[in-house]
Amino acid sequence: MSITKQDFNFVRDVVRSRSAILLDDNKGYLVEMRLSALAQKEGIDDVQTLISTVRDKGNISLRELMVEAMTTNETSFFRDRHPFDAMRDTILPELIEKRAATRSLKIWCGAASTGQEPYSLAILLRDSLPHPSLWDSKIIATDISPEVLGKAERGLYTQHEVGRGLPAAMLVKHFKRTGLEWEVKDELKAMVDYRRFNLVEPWMGLPKFDIIFMRNVLIYFDTDVKKQILTNALKYLAPDGYLFLGGSETLLGLGLDYHRVNLGPVSAYCPGA
Ligand SMILES: C[S@@+](CC[C@H](N)C(=O)[O-])C[C@H]1O[C@@H](n2cnc3c(N)ncnc32)[C@H](O)[C@@H]1O
Repeated sequence: MSITKQDFNFVRDVVRSRSAILLDDNKGYLVEMRLSALAQKEGIDDVQTLISTVRDKGNISLRELMVEAMTTNETSFFRDRHPFDAMRDTILPELIEKRAATRSLKIWCGAASTGQEPYSLAILLRDSLPHPSLWDSKIIATDISPEVLGKAERGLYTQHEVGRGLPAAMLVKHFKRTGLEWEVKDELKAMVDYRRFNLVEPWMGLPKFDIIFMRNVLIYFDTDVKKQILTNALKYLAPDGYLFLGGSETLLGLGLDYHRVNLGPVSAYCPGA
């Protein structure tokens, strides 16, 4: 049975108001598929009953699970490769030199999903720092979804997951075998702090960052929400810091106070016109 227009509109409005994620009218099949899986997991008979439990009975925890179910968590190690090459070859050497006196370097991964992106950054950072233990280096990795953050924190990946983008030498160096899976070693886990953080709620409790990765999340939002998030990000980015967006995301035309820096096949953005 397919979802009614009324139910779809209810889900679309809840998802938009809680996460800013836009669901086009043609996403009925996606809503149906994701919410069927959620209903099954929660022992609820069907999607209609799930929706009415949220709408008519005001079940807030189920509402949050419904929003979470509509997030897209696709990610992989060193996704798109070039931003990470630029980090290794240009950005980290530059900032490590500039921060030599304070020995402090902070990176924010603002849509961390299941952890492949923050761990890719942790690997680069650890392998770039001259004496990692003498540095106060941290990666704050945030996401709206507690479920993906739980997986990220456990740091356990299947052979298929590590096979997507993680070079063999890094696998051997930074992971250990745990049963049939690969587990991130403790020293790498210790570099990453996972926190739930909704980009469209008030921003609190974040430090100033040298680098912000905000990749493959803005595509789900409308222009006003993107502008708000990127304006907020400016307040948390060091004056000589760098912002990385996803391959199909741009700041162009938004009229914000950033300038683009070309780093070979990719660009990053720095504060100031
Ligand atoms: C497609 S993944 C991108 C993961 C990673 N940055 C990458 O590029 O591989 C998008 C992530 O954004 C998160 N997300 C969606 N809406 C969000 C919001 N309002 N606040 C914080 N995270 C959000 C989702 O839960 C999902 O894990």
